[in-house]
Amino acid sequence: MSNSGSVSSAPVTALASSLTLAAQQLTAGQLVAFPTETVYGLGADAENPAAVAAIYAAKGRPSNHPVIVHLAPEADIAYWAQNIPAEAHQLIAAFWPGPLTLILQRAAHIPDAVSGGQDSVGVRCPSHPVAQALLRAFKQGKGGIAAPSANKFGHVSPTTAQHVRDEFPAEIASGMIASVLDGGQSEVGIESTIVDLTRLATHGPVLLRPGHISSAQLAAVLGREIAAPDAAAPRASGTLDAHYAPNTPVVLIADAVLENTVQSLLYAGNKVAVMRYHEHRSQALAGLKILAADPAAYAHDLYAGLRELDEVQADVILVEMLPDDKVWQGVNDRLRRAAFDSRDVLQKLLK
Ligand code: TXA
Ligand code: MG
Repeated sequence: MSNSGSVSSAPVTALASSLTLAAQQLTAGQLVAFPTETVYGLGADAENPAAVAAIYAAKGRPSNHPVIVHLAPEADIAYWAQNIPAEAHQLIAAFWPGPLTLILQRAAHIPDAVSGGQDSVGVRCPSHPVAQALLRAFKQGKGGIAAPSANKFGHVSPTTAQHVRDEFPAEIASGMIASVLDGGQSEVGIESTIVDLTRLATHGPVLLRPGHISSAQLAAVLGREIAAPDAAAPRASGTLDAHYAPNTPVVLIADAVLENTVQSLLYAGNKVAVMRYHEHRSQALAGLKILAADPAAYAHDLYAGLRELDEVQADVILVEMLPDDKVWQGVNDRLRRAAFDSRDVLQKLLK
């Protein structure tokens, strides 16, 4: 990186010192929120069970839910996992650093706290430069940072540092979260794709959570199909039916009936917000967000859009249904979960 101008060196110095401090805080067992290319994470030293427990406490998350261990690009994955299959190395070569989490057999010395008591461990090497710099500064790049998304349990994941500050004002004020590193808006915008490789012999590779890296891309590298999760698949909190939800109820609705539904809701005296990817004509909305008709661009803006519409405190956020197409799999998965608790909302609002 060329950095001869004095103009740009000040922020770089500021960042370097905040990274050093954040790495020290992690080493001391404190919590640090940091950017990744998917969403912001709430990190702790993966080898410090008390620090990992503090993540659960801050999030209000059940402690039987495993967290992902983030590793530096140079990290030795054999330190974290055992019986690593060739498939893991193939996927790592193709997609790391990047938005892919692998579930592997946990190495014996890895604390129970990170795996929620399961014998597996989720590992991922993020591509975000600030995440990588933090991982390299922490324990000379040999540590692992356990980090779920930096949001309260069940809520929308954060894609900016401001989202993290909005999510945890009390925890930041009290020092329970020691630092929030700012790395701009997360590029991908939805959480990493998760593949389970712990049951290859019986189930093959299993997709636990769809994301930016599609099952077709994974299948192309492995030369075999990626299975959908079965009842015996490892627990994953992002796979609970209700998840990623704003406070305002979210209802998915087809383009063909969207404008009419808005009119009926307004007529019945409701405050309505709309998120869609087609043009929108009806007036008197409390909020309107038009996202791009492209899966990557839509994912990039999805969570920020939901948070923005949540702020107008409408009675409902109507989200235009997206095509039921593989390329929309990651986004459709998040929208379905965001809408899960609101199935009966329209009937109530239209009474
Ligand atoms: O993109 C991401 O993955 C972000 C960023 C911060 O890296 N992290 C994230 O973490 O989404 P979280 O905790 O919100 O979701 C992680 C998912 C959960 O559904 C968790 O249950 C699953 O990964 N997971 C982690 N370790 C696992 C394991 N050993 N077995 C099964 N699922 C696991
Ligand atoms: Mg999460």
